[in-house]
Amino acid sequence: MSIVDLWKGYQEGVAHGVLSETARTPDELLYVSLVALAAQDRDAALTHLRSALAAAPERQVLRECAHYLERATGDADTTDVYISPDAFSAFARGGGNVGLYQRTHAALRARYAALRPTSLLDVGTGEGLALLPALPDTIGRVDVLEPSAPRLDVVRSELARRGVHHRAINTTIEDFVAAGEADPDNTWDLVQETFAMLAVPAPERVPALRWLRPLTKRVILVEFDVPRVGHALHPDWFDYVVTRYEVGLAEYPGDHNLVRQGFLVPVFLGTLRPTEDRVHFEQPVEDWLHDLRAAGFEAAREPEFLAEYWWGDAFLIEAR
Ligand SMILES: C[S@@+](CC[C@H](N)C(=O)[O-])C[C@H]1O[C@@H](n2cnc3c(N)ncnc32)[C@H](O)[C@@H]1O
Repeated sequence: MSIVDLWKGYQEGVAHGVLSETARTPDELLYVSLVALAAQDRDAALTHLRSALAAAPERQVLRECAHYLERATGDADTTDVYISPDAFSAFARGGGNVGLYQRTHAALRARYAALRPTSLLDVGTGEGLALLPALPDTIGRVDVLEPSAPRLDVVRSELARRGVHHRAINTTIEDFVAAGEADPDNTWDLVQETFAMLAVPAPERVPALRWLRPLTKRVILVEFDVPRVGHALHPDWFDYVVTRYEVGLAEYPGDHNLVRQGFLVPVFLGTLRPTEDRVHFEQPVEDWLHDLRAAGFEAAREPEFLAEYWWGDAFLIEAR
């Protein structure tokens, strides 16, 4: 039985217990484990993962996922990896992120120098890891929007320390759009986001961008170019995610460390979860461009390649 056969069985509604009888390789067992998780059967998922691990004890993805499921409490499937700053902070400051953020800072600085914005909104600012090092002294007003209060506080404090006129908006972009229609402060020279729209549910993105369209001169998206996800358990997507996460986990050595258990594994499992509560909603650069056009923007430049990264190449996409 191959992953493709398991996928067919899953689509036909074959129970994971039946599928597991035909799974042989570690990847097939991992796949059945994900099918069991999708059916909310955590115990069965762990059993399949342990079988996979017994066959391939060197595989980091299997080791870390098994450990995560062994320790996870009942609500761990819906863990919000961005609420608590610690794990993402450590993730973003290590591995390939060091180079990725450096390239992002350089690219943003170049665009600030060219566009000279006096007002800026950073959507999903996190702890400002992309924004703050790139921000020019000449900026007049910076608004930062972020649903995680502890992460937003980091940015608020730093902007206050620098004496930058700012608003710190503690909400999601969807809720901000729903609430902010008539606020005269909601206009900017530039609206940007770095690796944040990937966390916004896909159906919410075009409406949010469409709302922003008359309120900003430019928009910059910094996002990864990843394959289109037809279904979270499609064999091609499974292969892409598993292959990439083996590389990503290796960038943070040490069994069951904070980055692996607090960020990478929950995102991995969330990326392969075929339900609405996925963690990330990513797509190819051409689909980001499509979303921008659907919202009334037009591309201002060719998408700018920023960096190769284990998860996918990063691009800066600019529209007006
Ligand atoms: C990968 S982090 C990137 C953070 C920051 N922009 C950076 O480059 O370091 C994604 C951020 O998007 C935020 N986020 C998640 N859902 C969001 C939403 N619906 N609206 C706005 N931001 C969101 C998360 O809380 C998180 O801080």
